[in-house]
Amino acid sequence: MSAVIEIAGLHKTFHTLRQGRRTAVDGFDLLVESGQVHGFLGPNGSGKTTTLRALLGLVRADGGRMSVLGAESPGRLPEVAGRVGAIVESPQFFANFTARRTLRLLALAGGVPTTRVDAVLEQVGLRDRGDERVRGYSLGMKQRLAVASALLKNPELLILDEPANGLDPAGIREMRDLMRSLAAAGVTVLLSSHILAEIQLICDHVTIISRGRRVAHGRVDEVLAGFDQHEWRVGVAEPERAAELLARAGVSVTVHPDHLLVAGVDDAEVISRTLGEQGLWVRELVPLRPDLESVFLELTGDAPHPALPRQVDGTAPDDMVIDLDVRESREVGA
Ligand SMILES: Nc1ncnc2c1ncn2[C@@H]1O[C@H](COP(=O)(O)OP(=O)(O)OP(=O)(O)O)[C@@H](O)[C@H]1O
Ligand SMILES: [Mg+2]
Repeated sequence: MSAVIEIAGLHKTFHTLRQGRRTAVDGFDLLVESGQVHGFLGPNGSGKTTTLRALLGLVRADGGRMSVLGAESPGRLPEVAGRVGAIVESPQFFANFTARRTLRLLALAGGVPTTRVDAVLEQVGLRDRGDERVRGYSLGMKQRLAVASALLKNPELLILDEPANGLDPAGIREMRDLMRSLAAAGVTVLLSSHILAEIQLICDHVTIISRGRRVAHGRVDEVLAGFDQHEWRVGVAEPERAAELLARAGVSVTVHPDHLLVAGVDDAEVISRTLGEQGLWVRELVPLRPDLESVFLELTGDAPHPALPRQVDGTAPDDMVIDLDVRESREVGA
C-alpha cells in the first residue's frame, strides 16, 4: 500500500480582528493509503475543512508537511491536480442550468471528453433527473451533482468534504455503494463528516480529529476494537448470588436491577460455565460492543453536558476537558 495523502504536524491559526487568534489545526497528522475509503471524522469546528483546504492549497498552512500522490503540497500540487477530484467548498451551480449542461460546461472547461457526462450522471444516480434545472434540486441532489463534477476527470483520488450532508438514509447507502464501487475500481477516497453513522457505513478506515488534533486512526473495526471493554450483559435469576460467584472466579461484575454487567471477559463460556456449575442458568448473554458513536464521544469530549448546550467546537466545561495525549495513546493501527 502506498501513501496517497500524507500530512504531518499541520498547523493553521486564523487571525481575525474581532476574535483574535484561533487555532483551527494544531499539529494534525493524516495518512491515507491507496485503495482506502477513508473517513475524516470530527465534530463541527474541529478543523476538517481547514485541513482539506490547506492540503489543496486553498489556504496557507503555518507549519507541517503535506503531500498528495507523492507530490509535495502546495508547491508541486499542479503536477498531480489532473489526477485529483475534490469538493471542499460547497460548489455553487447556476440554478437555471440543468445538471447535464452544468457538467458539459465543466467538462469542456477542464478538457474532459463530454462523453464522461452521461457516465458520471449514471454513477451518482442522477441519470433520469439530469435534464432538470438545478433550481428544482433537493440538497441531496445538489450533493450528488457536486460529486459528479468531481468524478468528471476520472480521478485516482477523490476528496469530498461532507458529501453525505443532506442525504436521506437511502441516499447515504447509495453514496456508500458509489464509494465502494469507486474503491473497487482503484480510486482512493477521503471524505469528511461529523456524522458517525455515515463513516461507519461508508468507510473502511477512519481518522478522528478533535480540536485540530488527531485523536484516533486506523481501520474502523480496529479503532472500535481498541475501545472494546469485553463487556457482557448477563440475565440470570438470583443476580446477587450470580455476581458473588463470578467475583469469586475473578471476574469484574456490577449488579443492576434486572441484569449483571460483566467486564474483561473474552469468552462468554467463562460466564455460563461459572454460573451453570452452581445451578444458575443464564437466560441472556449479550456482548456489548462499542460503536463509533461511543468511541467518538469519548475521544472528542463531545458528549452533551446535562446542564449545558453543546458548543460547536466541542468546548466543554474545564472539568470535562479530555486530555488528548492520554487518548492518543489508546489509538490502534499506524
Ligand atoms: N477563514 C476563517 N477565519 C477564521 N476562523 C476560521 C476560518 N475558517 C475556519 N475557522 C475556524 O477554524 C475552526 C475549524 O473550522 P473548520 O471549518 O475547519 O471546522 P470543520 O471541522 O470543517 O467543521 P464543520 O463540521 O462544522 O464543517 C473553527 O473554529 C472555525 O471557526
Ligand atoms: Mg467543515
